[in-house]
Amino acid sequence: MTPPDGYRTRRTGQGQSVADRFARGAVGANAKLEPEVEAEAFAIAPGLLGTAPDGLRPHPRRYDPPMAAQPAEHDRAAPPSPPAPDLPLVRRGKVRDVYRLPDVPGSTPRLLMVATDRISAFDVVMPTPIPGKGRLLTEISSWWFEFIQSRRICQSHLISTDSDSVGDAIGPDPKVRSYLRGRSTICRACEVIPVECVVRGYLEGSGWKEYQASGSVCGVKLPRGLKQCDRLPEPIFTPATKAAIGHDENISFDRAAEIVGLETAGVIRDLSLSIYNAAAEHALTRGIIIADTKFEFGIPLDERDRAGRAWVPPVLIDEALTPDSSRFWPAKDYKPGKPQKSFDKQFLREYLEELVRDGKWDKSEPGPELPEAVVAGTLARYREARDLLCS
Ligand SMILES: Nc1ncnc2c1ncn2[C@@H]1O[C@H](COP(=O)(O)OP(=O)(O)OP(=O)(O)O)[C@@H](O)[C@H]1O
Ligand SMILES: [Mg+2]
Repeated sequence: MTPPDGYRTRRTGQGQSVADRFARGAVGANAKLEPEVEAEAFAIAPGLLGTAPDGLRPHPRRYDPPMAAQPAEHDRAAPPSPPAPDLPLVRRGKVRDVYRLPDVPGSTPRLLMVATDRISAFDVVMPTPIPGKGRLLTEISSWWFEFIQSRRICQSHLISTDSDSVGDAIGPDPKVRSYLRGRSTICRACEVIPVECVVRGYLEGSGWKEYQASGSVCGVKLPRGLKQCDRLPEPIFTPATKAAIGHDENISFDRAAEIVGLETAGVIRDLSLSIYNAAAEHALTRGIIIADTKFEFGIPLDERDRAGRAWVPPVLIDEALTPDSSRFWPAKDYKPGKPQKSFDKQFLREYLEELVRDGKWDKSEPGPELPEAVVAGTLARYREARDLLCS
């Protein structure tokens, strides 16, 4: 059955992604990335990966560097690969590795989404992991998924975060089982709706850049004279494409509607704004401003495939309101007109911008090794965000 409003599916890439290099050296994980195995992944999870077009190679993911542009120092920069469960890998994102769990008759198709300790900035995955970050992300996201569901705003893909609950499916290796604990999300397998749902309550980042150039953000006209980090008159939905190559591109609501259909675009906009409003209100009671954040939605594969349903409500997938996907500012220090202190990736970005200013990095592959102080500082900020927000 084709989706009711004809949204397009994402296609995964073949060849060597940045994250593939992290797997290099781990025979098990590596073997899953061979083209024939990826073809098998298409066969078992076509809705997840997009149908392989006849005679066409799938688009490379946007962070896939050209093969020729991978100098040997990538290998030297790659950290040891994390232990991998004995399951088919269906997608390797910049941060998460997504595996297909065996079907249980009569229940929804499930994935095992593993948040690694990888960190990316400017769409480049750093060679240095942030030990424990994956567990913090999983804790924060699952807390927000429960928060959102308990307020009846939206369903999420979350089934459980207990990797031991899938029993033998992840294999017997105690190293793998202990690695997966705390960083796993067992979730409903979905067809990803290919629009990044960004909500902005404040003007920073690409929104601030676009406003300075045009007076609007993603086609939303804003009042004149706003300063950097100013609070917007009301939160705005500023979607972005999931670019196959290069950076996500900000788009208008109309463009999003062309991509996913008007009805779906309207629903994911309204859901995104409702989630943001509830989350931002909660965060303020903890002294944190959520300046902006990004959501992803999907359609559970079994619901989509069930005959006779006219339209299926999207569910929230991926991650929710983490320091990777949001800007978190301490409210007590908030002062518009300049960049803010933050509990998110900004700390890392600032370090990297310094390297760029000093001519030591140009925001292209490979990313630089991170010093101990940056690793510790980043982790401390993520921990602080978890401690303040998630209770
Ligand atoms: N329930 C789900 N069903 C199918 N795919 C999912 C589900 N939840 C998350 N995903 C996908 O799994 C991947 C998670 O990887 P990760 O978050 O590291 O991606 P990414 O490289 O950061 O991409 P992005 O910047 O778009 O988030 C994403 O491509 C996301 O769309
Ligand atoms: Mg993601």
